[in-house]
Amino acid sequence: MLLQMAQVALIPILALFVFVLVARRVLLQTRTSVVATVQLPPLVQSRLWWIGSTLRFIYDPSAFFQHNSEIYGSIYRFCLGGRYMTVVSDPAAIVKIHSLPPAVLIPFEYQQIHRICGLAERVRFISDVFHNRIIPISASLLAKHRMSPISTAFSTHLLACFDSLRVPQHATVQYQLPDLMGECMYRASTLAFFGPSFPADTWADFAALDEDMSFLLRGIPLLDIRAKRARERICRAMQAYIRDTWQEDGDGYLAGTSEAMSAMLLEALGSGMTEAESARLMVSVLWGMNGSMIQVTQWCLAYIVADKALLEHVSDTVRLAVERHFADISCLPAADPRYLDQPDFAILQSIVDEVLRLSTLTTAFREVVESFEITGYDGRPYIVPKGDLVALDVRSIHINPVFFTEPHVFKADRFLSTEGQERSYGRRKLIPWGGGKHMCKGRHFAEWAVKTFLIMFLCSFDVETSSHPTSPASLSRTGTSILRLDCSCPMNLRRRVSCTQH
Ligand code: HEM
Repeated sequence: MLLQMAQVALIPILALFVFVLVARRVLLQTRTSVVATVQLPPLVQSRLWWIGSTLRFIYDPSAFFQHNSEIYGSIYRFCLGGRYMTVVSDPAAIVKIHSLPPAVLIPFEYQQIHRICGLAERVRFISDVFHNRIIPISASLLAKHRMSPISTAFSTHLLACFDSLRVPQHATVQYQLPDLMGECMYRASTLAFFGPSFPADTWADFAALDEDMSFLLRGIPLLDIRAKRARERICRAMQAYIRDTWQEDGDGYLAGTSEAMSAMLLEALGSGMTEAESARLMVSVLWGMNGSMIQVTQWCLAYIVADKALLEHVSDTVRLAVERHFADISCLPAADPRYLDQPDFAILQSIVDEVLRLSTLTTAFREVVESFEITGYDGRPYIVPKGDLVALDVRSIHINPVFFTEPHVFKADRFLSTEGQERSYGRRKLIPWGGGKHMCKGRHFAEWAVKTFLIMFLCSFDVETSSHPTSPASLSRTGTSILRLDCSCPMNLRRRVSCTQH
């Protein structure tokens, strides 16, 4: 009886649901036909009404984008659960989109920070504070000429981590690359930003969160359980750290932390966030600054070590440059971070750029507030209508032979001139840091930190391996912003007496 009543009650609810879907579809079609005269981008064909290409997109966004860009060109649209998403993979069109003001285009769902850090309430308010008040602080404190305190702390902690590894001078020890460098990078960056009382032993939880982050972001139930549990443990550790470190003097500050972290937390608490909310927001900052940087460093090292000639060339170049400018590696932490801009280190910049080209995934999504026009590389203008979502598909640019010759091949010197200097070739087509208002605020630090890691590593150890990473260009589904390294890449290490030992 009870069951029958429930079934009867369900009928009007289902009818209402179907009505809402149909009405939404009709509205979307009406809105679309108004602008259709100006020509919309070609539409990806799908037999599934309303659902459109949602399942293929969620299953493997990179493969989906790449496949469609080959069929439909550099600008096209697809249906995504009753909405439409315009995908753009033309460098000039992306530059134009980056320059559009928030009255035309806004970040989609505030870049999903609530999913990253598990915020359930006041998401809009917290996202607003984050974007409008906290991110601008990080931008100013991470400018290249102001990075010194953080860069000194980072390289000091990194060197200490390498020193603590049990690697003798007269025998080799085998390490798996992700274990070896993930933890050292995490320790160095968290201790540099959050100060010495930060619980850097959260590394194991961070690694689990990072590995399963794509399930969290795509909202895939069950598969996201491990990430959720790890995230909750990190949130608790972060909240305890804030409580223990916060000092009430003046406006308040975090004792022993970088100016950037103290200022960001002060802004969060000052704007009315609770301690628990601020701690969660800081966990999303923690993930944002470490996740991609660790993956990029792993790819760089895996590629360098896999090629004996490249390993020898990069090691010799770096060790000579350190000898010429600093006498020894122990002098590096005190150096102005801009030392890395010298031509002696150009090969490292080229390697970082090449890894970013091959491993960056498409992560920038926007929502169109006002219709606008763009032109693809076929020279055809298209209208992107109000209400659409937009994906800035940089990955399809990075592995397109029109822009990069032999795009699936890792070429350490791709971004070097024949004289071995850094060159501007391909720069405008290499878009790993986003652009415009939302361009990565930590890009100078990230580039510097990856290169510093490589220098300190090659100065501290002699290394050899027999494993080769799969080209990231042939991977697609693993990772959120940067593809995950697909090998454990075991390597044998022997400690060097000094960087300049011959
Ligand atoms: C290799 C490492 C990194 C990569 C590849 C990377 C990439 C990016 C990209 C593509 C965006 C723009 C997203 C969009 O347009 O929606 C972004 C934004 C951002 N990144 Fe990074 N990032 C890295 C490291 C870092 C680090 C180390 C920090 C801080 C220390 C940082 C802080 C930020 C912030 C605050 C934003 C938001 C900017 C805004 O919305 O105004 N990133 N990052």
